Amino acid sequence: MSTNFANNSSAINVTNLNKTVVTQEGELTILNGINMDVKQGDSIAILGPSGSGKSTLLGLLAALDTPTSGEILLDGQALSGLNEEQKAALRKQKVSFIFQSFMLVDTLTALENVMLPAELAGVVNAREKAENMLERVGLSHRLTHLPKQLSGGEQQRVAIARAFICEPKVLFADEPTGNLDSANGDKIADMLFALNQESDTTLVLVTHDLELAKRCKRQLVMENGHLSEPAVSEEQNVSEEAC
Ligand SMILES: Nc1ncnc2c1ncn2[C@@H]1O[C@H](COP(=O)(O)OP(=O)(O)OP(=O)(O)O)[C@@H](O)[C@H]1O
Ligand SMILES: [Mg+2]
Repeated sequence: MSTNFANNSSAINVTNLNKTVVTQEGELTILNGINMDVKQGDSIAILGPSGSGKSTLLGLLAALDTPTSGEILLDGQALSGLNEEQKAALRKQKVSFIFQSFMLVDTLTALENVMLPAELAGVVNAREKAENMLERVGLSHRLTHLPKQLSGGEQQRVAIARAFICEPKVLFADEPTGNLDSANGDKIADMLFALNQESDTTLVLVTHDLELAKRCKRQLVMENGHLSEPAVSEEQNVSEEAC
């Protein structure tokens, strides 16, 4: 099925999404009946307690994982109609992902990690672009370091530079400021929202950081695999409880 039901301006449209896995203890429902619609250029924060299903949802939205049932339209394209190769092509073309665990390539330097997606996409001047991105995240002095020679916060900033280099249509970020001190966290948040505004990149951020969440246009809360959008007047209370 590759029918496009989404409004033209929807970056992400999700209908009745479920994710169930089989564990030694039996069947575990991680996501239960998720519906959401994200417009192109929006910024969305997903809050919620540890283990509530936030990273699982992000992986599904970015076509990195497959739902048990339900449909996701990414930029109007139904993911259920795509094979693995087509999903990889769609990701390469439209999506960047900042992983909670960074997922840097161990054997590549900071500079090479950032260059990689640009090289794969055939971007000219990939090296200069990567150097520029690493400068923007404050890592000009760490270009030739391998990930194991970098601190957690430095690795996170390399992952952020890598995600930005191809100016994605949709950027998924799983706790992008989780390992950063407040000065670096602020700098990264500024970069995220600059990308959102200058390139019309849709941002979907999972975060426990209320200040970052408040800078997003919408705040959604995940609880036990259910996603809700608190009314604005309740937002403050719900967000504080959610973290
Ligand atoms: N492949 C899997 N098999 C079994 N259980 C899984 C699997 N993937 C996720 N889970 C479980 O599903 C739940 C949701 O996981 P998820 O990583 O999405 O949570 P989260 O909201 O991102 O949490 P955190 O804030 O700690 O990162 C967790 O209880 C996790 O143990
Ligand atoms: Mg997570």
